[in-house]
Amino acid sequence: MIKLINISFSYKEFENSEELKPDDRELVLAAAESALNAYAPYSKFRVGAAIRLESGIIVRGANVENVAFPSGTCAESSAFSNSVSNHHNDNPVAIAITAMTEDGLTDEPVPPCGNCRQVIAEEESRTGKPIRIILAGRSKTMVIESISSLLPLQFNKKNLQVNLP
Ligand code: THU
Repeated sequence: MIKLINISFSYKEFENSEELKPDDRELVLAAAESALNAYAPYSKFRVGAAIRLESGIIVRGANVENVAFPSGTCAESSAFSNSVSNHHNDNPVAIAITAMTEDGLTDEPVPPCGNCRQVIAEEESRTGKPIRIILAGRSKTMVIESISSLLPLQFNKKNLQVNLP
């Protein structure tokens, strides 16, 4: 027998970033500021990410490109490298992501690439807690409650069949 399985998800969309919770608005601003620190001479596409930790600390990341293209890093991955390295036991609760072209902040929200989705999934798995994902563009902001919506059927530690401490 063939079963047809449907996977769907819901997210919140805000037309005006003023409608976001103050903490989330602050996180979006931090992400936008962080995009200004990107090193993106090749794509000229500057991405900024800001992670809110349980303690309230905000950790930032920006994309850092390389003349050998695959050696570059994305904003989200660089933010998580920073938070895990410097605040190992302070769990991430939310990440805001923004992007800028030479015309300024993008109109549309920019979703994380596949690799960064995998990085966020690992963080949810490491901490056992969902991470809210806030994608902010000039025209609207999307709020997604967990990476499992953006990365369904994810490869996880059960698939690998290892026992982690
Ligand atoms: N980029 C990010 O920083 N995050 C993403 O999720 C998508 C792409 C960066 C990588 C590269 O420096 C530039 O955006 C263009 O792809």
